[in-house]
Amino acid sequence: MRIFETHAHYDDDAFDDDREQLLNEMHKEGIDYIVNIGCSMENSRHIVDMVKEYDFLYGTVGVHPSDIDGLTDADMQELEKLAQAKKILAIGEMGLDYHYDNVVKEEQAKWFVAQLEIAKRCDMPVVIHSRDAAKDTLDIVKAHHNGVTPGIIHCFSYGVEMAKCYLDMGYYIGVGGVVTFKNAKKLKEVVEYTPLERIVLETDAPYLAPTPYRGKRNCSLYLRHVAEEIATLKGVSVEEVCAVTYENAKTVYKM
Ligand code: NI
Repeated sequence: MRIFETHAHYDDDAFDDDREQLLNEMHKEGIDYIVNIGCSMENSRHIVDMVKEYDFLYGTVGVHPSDIDGLTDADMQELEKLAQAKKILAIGEMGLDYHYDNVVKEEQAKWFVAQLEIAKRCDMPVVIHSRDAAKDTLDIVKAHHNGVTPGIIHCFSYGVEMAKCYLDMGYYIGVGGVVTFKNAKKLKEVVEYTPLERIVLETDAPYLAPTPYRGKRNCSLYLRHVAEEIATLKGVSVEEVCAVTYENAKTVYKM
C-alpha cells in the first residue's frame, strides 16, 4: 500500500531532533511522496533547498495568512522566482484565517489575491488554507477563478454546501487527522459526499495527529489511520483509498 502525503511541514522545529531519521523511514513505511508546504517567505526559501536532499520530497512556496506581517511587493516577486525552482509544485499555502482576534482582513485578502495571481502567471496549482472565513475565501477564489489552476482546499473544515462549490470549480479536498475525531461530524459528511476521485490525503504535520495519536506530534506515517477512516465512511477498502488518492495527488500537483 503506497501513500502520497500532500501537505506536511517537516521544516518545523518539532522535527529538529529526528528529522533526518524520520524522513529516511518514510519510504519503507509506504510513504512514496511528501509535499512540504511553504507558509512564510523564510521557510519558502528553505524548502527550495530542502527538497534537494530527498528524492521523494517535493515542495510548495507561499505565505500563510497568519504570516503576512511585513510582507512586501518585493517578497511577492521573490516568491514568483522561488516557484520556478526544481521540485516546487504549487503556490501556497495561502488564504484567509479569521480564527484569532486582531486579524486585518483586508491585508489577508490582498496577499491572498497576490499569490493567486502568481499561480496564474506560473500556471501552477494553489494550496488554499481557510479557517473561519468560509464566505470571504469563496468570494475571492470565485472572483479570481479565471486562469487559476485549481488545487487543494487544505484541511477542509466547512460543510457539504461549501465543498460542492469548490468541487464544481475543480478543486480537491484535503483530508487529514481531523476526520478520525469522534466529534468531526461535518468533515465525515463532506468525505461521504465528495467523490473519492477528488480527495487527497494530508497530515499538516506536526499538527492535527489522527486518533490514536491525537494531541501528539503528527507525521506522515499516521496517514494510514486517515485512509482507514475514509475507507469506512465510503464503504471501500483502505487499499482503494490509498491508490485513488495517490493518483489524485499526482494529478492535482501535475506530476
Ligand atoms: Ni499547513
